[in-house]
Amino acid sequence: MAPLAICFAAAEMAPFAKTGGLADVASALPRYLHDQGHDVRPFMPLYSRIDLDAYDFVQVDFLRDVAVDLGGHRLSFTGYAGRAPGSDLAVYFIHCPALYHRRSIYTGDADEHLRFAFFSHAVFACCQRMGWGPQVLHVNDWHTALMPLYRRTTYGWDQLFAGSRSVLTIHNIAYQGIFPAAVVPELGLAQDHHLLYQDDLRAGVVNFLKTGILYADVVTTVSETYAKEIQTEAFGCGLEGVLRQRGGSVLGIVNGVDYGTWDPRNDPHLPVRYGPEDVAEGKRRNKELLLAELGLPVAEGTPLFGIVSRLTAQKGFELLFEPLPEMLAAGDAQIVVLGTGEASYERFFHQLQQRFPAKACYYRGYNEPLAHRIEAASDFFLMPSRFEPCGLNQMYSLKYGSVPIVRKTGGLADTVRLFDPRTGDGTGIVFEHFEPDAVRWALGCAVELYRDPQAMDRLRRNGMAEDFSWQRQGKLYERLYRLLAAGG
Ligand code: ADP
Ligand code: GLC
Repeated sequence: MAPLAICFAAAEMAPFAKTGGLADVASALPRYLHDQGHDVRPFMPLYSRIDLDAYDFVQVDFLRDVAVDLGGHRLSFTGYAGRAPGSDLAVYFIHCPALYHRRSIYTGDADEHLRFAFFSHAVFACCQRMGWGPQVLHVNDWHTALMPLYRRTTYGWDQLFAGSRSVLTIHNIAYQGIFPAAVVPELGLAQDHHLLYQDDLRAGVVNFLKTGILYADVVTTVSETYAKEIQTEAFGCGLEGVLRQRGGSVLGIVNGVDYGTWDPRNDPHLPVRYGPEDVAEGKRRNKELLLAELGLPVAEGTPLFGIVSRLTAQKGFELLFEPLPEMLAAGDAQIVVLGTGEASYERFFHQLQQRFPAKACYYRGYNEPLAHRIEAASDFFLMPSRFEPCGLNQMYSLKYGSVPIVRKTGGLADTVRLFDPRTGDGTGIVFEHFEPDAVRWALGCAVELYRDPQAMDRLRRNGMAEDFSWQRQGKLYERLYRLLAAGG
C-alpha cells in the first residue's frame, strides 16, 4: 500500500522532553509509522532543557527566522531537525527562545496560550516551506488542538492542506487549555473568531481542547473504556456534551508500549536482565540490588510493592492513606515510591518512610533509570487511579513480571485482567470501587498470592506474555489514517 504523509504535533516527546505518558506515545508512534515506510514528520517545541549538543541537531536552512504574527505579537522561529538515539527518524523542533526558554515545559505564565498557538502555526509554516501537504494532521491534547480549526481557516486558502484530514488524540481530558476570552485576538484566527464556541466566549473563556473536539475530523482517545467514560458527566470534565455530539467520530485506541525501551531482556538500566524463563530469579536479584541501593534491608519472603507516578489527584493515592500503613504495620511488605507532585501525596509518602524506615522508601524526583529498576525489582505495582486515560506503567509492569494492582477504570480496565487462582487466567489484581476497602482487599490478595510461588509464577508469566506492542496498536492508527485519507 502507498505510504502516507503524516504530520504529528505534540508538546512533549521522549527522550527530548517528558512529563508523562504523552511523551512516550509521541515518540513511539511516529517511530513505528516511520518503520512502516510512511513519511511521518513529528514536531515539538525546542525547550531550553533540551540539550542542543546531545541529539545531532541541525538548523534547517529554509526554516530560518520564520515570522508568525499573532495579534500584536510578531514572533519568529527557526526550525531544527534532530534524531532520537537509535532511530533515523528526523524530529522537527520549533526554536523560539522567547517562548520556550522557561523553567518548565508547561508554565502558568500569562502567555501560555501564545506558546502553543504559536507552536501550532509554526508547524503549518514548516509544512508550507517544505512544500509538503500531509494527508493526516495528527495533533495531541490541548496544546495542538487548535490546528484542525487553523487548517480550515487561517490555512484554508492553501491547496497544500486541501487534502489534509485531522486526528485529535485526547491523552487527558482534565487538561483543556482554558484561557480568558481576551486572548482570542492573539490566536491568529483573523476573521474566524465566530467559529469558536460562542457560549464559552460569552462566559469569558476560550477552550483549546473543546475547539479541537469540534473541528477535528476524528477524535481519538487512548483506550476504549476512556472513550466511553469521557462521554459521561463523571469523566468528561464538562466536555461530555460536545463529545457526544461527535458520536461515531470518537474512538478509543489503547496506547502501545515501546518494547525497545521497556523489555527486561535487554533493558540497559537493569543490573540483571531476565525474561519469562528466569523471571523469579531475575526479579529476586534485581530486588536485592535495588533494596541495597535504596538502603532498605533485604527481607526474604516479603513482597515489594512499587509506584512510579506523577503524584496528582488523578492517580488516586489518597486511597492508600490508611490501607498502606496498615499493611506495613502488619509486617507483610515493603514499598518503593518514585514520583513528584502535589504536597499532600509527597507528605504521605515521606511520612511513610519516616514511620517505616526498613519497609518504605520514597524517592522524590524524576528518574528514568530508577523507574526501570523499580519495574524490575517490584513484585506488585500499584495504580489505584481515580481515572486513567490509558496508563503505560501497568503495561510496563506486565512485561517486567511485576503484577499490576489497578482500579478498573479507563485504560487500566482495558489492559489488566483479574487473576483467578482457580483457572490460572488473568494478569493482575483489579478492584472496582474508589474506596479504601477496595484497596485493602487488593493488598490482601497480593500478600496472599505472594505466599503461593506457583500462582505468582503463573500470574507473572501471563503478564509477560501479553502484547501491547506498537506493532499491534500502531496498525489501528494506520487503518484510521487510511480511512481518513480515502475520504472516509
Ligand atoms: P501519565 O501520563 O498520566 O503520567 P502514564 O502511565 O501514561 O501516566 O505515563 C507515565 C510515564 O511517566 C511513564 O513512562 C512513567 O515511567 C513516567 N514517570 C512518571 N513519573 C516518573 C518519575 N518520577 N520518574 C521517572 N519516570 C516517571
Ligand atoms: C496521559 C494520561 C495517561 C496516558 C498518557 C499517554 O498523560 O494520563 O493515562 O497513558 O497520557 O496517552
